Amino acid sequence: MQTIKLENVSKSFGDLKVLSNVNFSVESGEFVAIVGPSGCGKSTALRMIAGLEKPTTGKVMANEQIIDQPDPERTLIFQEHALFPWRTVGENVEFGLELANVAKEEREARIQAILIKVGLTDFKDYYPGQLSGGMRQRASIARALVMDPDVLLLDEPYGALDAITKLKMQNELMNLWLGSQKTMILITHDIDEAIYLADKIFVMSPRPGYIKDMIIVDLPRPRNRNGTEFIKIRERIMNELDLTTN
Ligand SMILES: Nc1ncnc2c1ncn2[C@@H]1O[C@H](COP(=O)(O)OP(=O)(O)OP(=O)(O)O)[C@@H](O)[C@H]1O
Ligand SMILES: [Mg+2]
Repeated sequence: MQTIKLENVSKSFGDLKVLSNVNFSVESGEFVAIVGPSGCGKSTALRMIAGLEKPTTGKVMANEQIIDQPDPERTLIFQEHALFPWRTVGENVEFGLELANVAKEEREARIQAILIKVGLTDFKDYYPGQLSGGMRQRASIARALVMDPDVLLLDEPYGALDAITKLKMQNELMNLWLGSQKTMILITHDIDEAIYLADKIFVMSPRPGYIKDMIIVDLPRPRNRNGTEFIKIRERIMNELDLTTN
């Protein structure tokens, strides 16, 4: 179980100030979404939580401990280039288990169980190039899940999918989360996706990014995208992102 906390975090790359005084915390088991304009530092913040990047000032912590390196308990899932094209789905999922020196028999059992969970049992021996976009995405989620991390960091996982597949994948992710108690931190450009899935939404300002608003979404799941409260939250976020036309 991990509590994630960013305390007065700023980040610059040379002269470019990317994040400015970011503060937020994520409780263990929470589903959090981050929305904000392109280039405001969302991926940078997520990479810091993954231990791949350090803040210029401030603290990025897991369980009150400074994060200074990657940890198998916090797995980052990218949209692109996540899978090894020369490995089958099964072999991709197996990769982390090999690195962790898990015995062959246990590897097989865990791969089997995870592929059932994401609905890819029949595609175990397929190569990434032989899968649909949604399947590839599920395979990379399987590859992360098989390591049983406490925290899943998802950087726009469904950005490249068509609208119908995306809606399906959102339900899959919701069910996965409901059944796993894992902490999820999801970056998305899709405002409805954030409201549909998250307990808590952080809205960021343009670069240098800071947390402009924090919205608690206290609606039962599965959520009605046309419900009054849903629409109200959508309008609030659109306003904050300056996306309203009038
Ligand atoms: N390693 C790096 N070196 C230099 N600049 C970087 C580096 N990583 C990110 N940046 C810069 O930091 C800024 C924020 O990038 P980041 O990827 O965090 O944005 P983002 O909010 O995820 O945007 P998007 O929504 O487009 O993915 C960008 O201007 C980018 O050029
Ligand atoms: Mg990004």
